[in-house]
Amino acid sequence: MTQLTIAMGKGRTADRAMKLFEQVGIRFSDYHDKSRKLVIYDDDNKVKLIFVKAVDVPTYVENGAADIGIVGKDTIMEDPVDVYELMDLGIGKCIVAVAGFPEKEFTNGAPLTVASKYPTIAKDYFTGQGIRVETIKLNGSIELAPLIGLADVIVDIVETGTTLKENGLVVLEKIADVSARVIVNKASYATKTSQIQQFIGDLKAALE
Ligand code: PRP
Repeated sequence: MTQLTIAMGKGRTADRAMKLFEQVGIRFSDYHDKSRKLVIYDDDNKVKLIFVKAVDVPTYVENGAADIGIVGKDTIMEDPVDVYELMDLGIGKCIVAVAGFPEKEFTNGAPLTVASKYPTIAKDYFTGQGIRVETIKLNGSIELAPLIGLADVIVDIVETGTTLKENGLVVLEKIADVSARVIVNKASYATKTSQIQQFIGDLKAALE
């Protein structure tokens, strides 16, 4: 019988998470990175894995549609939900940063326009610095915004820095280090304590 439902997004982090699962003896023989399947089961039929859009992982976990979620800290910071954050998987490491043209200075005159997938993180960060901002929510290709004059700066994740470099932009200020986290539904943690603790304990041991 399936004991745990885990939600995560597809892509780079999913591929790395799958390797970690394998290290702790949870194998998904059906999985390959080009598969379009949204629900898969491990070979022992104990874990059900559901693939959702990465930004939706916290919603599935908060509502109990999944017991466990694997999601970037950036997503949790932007949209906090009522779940337990139990572990840093140390994969998908990157930073959330303010980026723009090298000479960009933040003056305290007109509001700074900031384009971002993370308007809340951006607003909180600049407000904390006493800088007035107007945020523009974008869903991708954020680096384009300063190039075409849509925004003064961006707040985005930077992993290798290649996207910034190839577009003539630089990191101006680091906001936070981020990586993939394990989040857990609160009711699931109460009813499936031993399975969840075992899962987390195995992952921690594998990472040591
Ligand atoms: C992310 C992020 C940057 C890029 C950073 O975009 O928004 O654009 O990766 O990675 P790098 O520092 O290694 O270049 P993603 O690939 O998710 O695409 P998107 O533009 O559609 O959001």
